[in-house]
Amino acid sequence: MIPSLLVIDDEPTVRLALKRFFEAKAYRVLESGTASSGLALFQQEEPEVVLLDLKLPDGDGIALLDQIKAHNPEAAVIMITGKGTIESAVTAMKRGAADYLTKPVDLEEVEVLVAKTVELLQLKRVNRYYRSRAKIKDAGRPIPGECPEIKKLNMMVDLLAENPHTTVLIQGESGTGKELVARAIHGKSIRWDKPLMDINCAGLSETLLESELFGHERGAFTDAKALKRGLLEIADGGTLFLDEIGELAPSIQAKLLRVLENKCFRRVGGTRDIQVDVRIVTATNKDLSKTVEKGAFREDLYYRLKVMPIELSPLRERGQDVLLLANLFLEEFSRTLKKPAKTFSPEAQRLLLAYHWPGNVRELKNVVERAMILASEEIIGPEHLPLELQAVAPKVGGKAETYPSLEHMERDYIKQVLASTSGNRSKTAKILGISRSTLQDKIRKYGL
Ligand SMILES: Nc1ncnc2c1ncn2[C@@H]1O[C@H](COP(=O)(O)OP(=O)(O)OP(=O)(O)O)[C@@H](O)[C@H]1O
Ligand SMILES: [Mg+2]
Repeated sequence: MIPSLLVIDDEPTVRLALKRFFEAKAYRVLESGTASSGLALFQQEEPEVVLLDLKLPDGDGIALLDQIKAHNPEAAVIMITGKGTIESAVTAMKRGAADYLTKPVDLEEVEVLVAKTVELLQLKRVNRYYRSRAKIKDAGRPIPGECPEIKKLNMMVDLLAENPHTTVLIQGESGTGKELVARAIHGKSIRWDKPLMDINCAGLSETLLESELFGHERGAFTDAKALKRGLLEIADGGTLFLDEIGELAPSIQAKLLRVLENKCFRRVGGTRDIQVDVRIVTATNKDLSKTVEKGAFREDLYYRLKVMPIELSPLRERGQDVLLLANLFLEEFSRTLKKPAKTFSPEAQRLLLAYHWPGNVRELKNVVERAMILASEEIIGPEHLPLELQAVAPKVGGKAETYPSLEHMERDYIKQVLASTSGNRSKTAKILGISRSTLQDKIRKYGL
């Protein structure tokens, strides 16, 4: 790294002397004779170290120090003070200056100070790097599961954690763990100690959602008695999780697109652009591409969101993970409900594996909680599971246990045909070779 140095002093001779001296020592030297151009140069170039004169033609050095610190609290500023201004030097140190020098400037002395400051900065950087690595390591655990889909998912989560600016779109059926994934992405990234704000886009009216997201100025509308900061501002440095993104109103879609493209927005009723550094994570349990086709969701926003898409597989496609999760929840509920540890009987395990879990992991969690409460003995059997699970394979005696019953097969078959005809009963009855009214009875009987 070539350290860069900004000299802000109104005396050209001082600037020249420092410039020559430090350039000879392989520093990059920038210089300015006024406070205003000095600040502009600082903001533009972000030099490692600033040598700042206390007295400048267009303002005093202390005020400029404050402005520099406001822009970057970690900036290293060494004050240059004239004779008899030691008090100001003390003030400067209190306001965050790294050190101070007195005029006339002794070049050897400056060099020692600047070198020390640069070294300290580098140490801080290295430290911060290791600290952030440690954070990534222990904040946020992997998503539980061992099937290939979940393994792949955890790799994606880690990749996204290491790319804290990338936008994420999480798609999956209800209860598959979309929110869990959003939290893991935030918790494993270097944003972990900044806020994770979330909001459900389907829950609020358009105007309310807009002011929740972007905030509003005082007097923006009748009820806006005071300025309100939106979630984007509150989440600055962190993550904003937008659930049910497909429900977002078109006007807000446009504003969100601007946030993604320019990292800025305006409060409702505001005229000033506000810059924020927020990662946007979105989720939906619908097929967003269909919403785009219907014209209810902007195509440009859709492509912007799905730079990194995550598809969460339904629980019924996760194989043995059903048991892994069920056991995990058993332990969890035995802890939180303060009940002795329990296990599932082989028959109960078979039902858990065979059931189609329309409510996915959330449903499984509820089923386990219920079983934990119902089972008085140590073993959880089919009788402690809800009826819809027991119905998966009605109990038959002896070896036939492994075969589904005729009724069960009939139910499944009717269901399949109904699905293939999109629920058209006449067509279904025709395919099955039964009358419409018989079909009607069976639909009622099996609760299809
Ligand atoms: N792989 C998993 N391991 C452990 N718990 C999980 C897993 N997936 C989901 N859960 C748990 O299941 C419940 C539902 O998950 P979550 O709220 O993240 O689902 P969702 O996809 O956001 O659902 P919805 O679409 O209804 O909002 C939560 O209690 C969550 O902790
Ligand atoms: Mg959710």
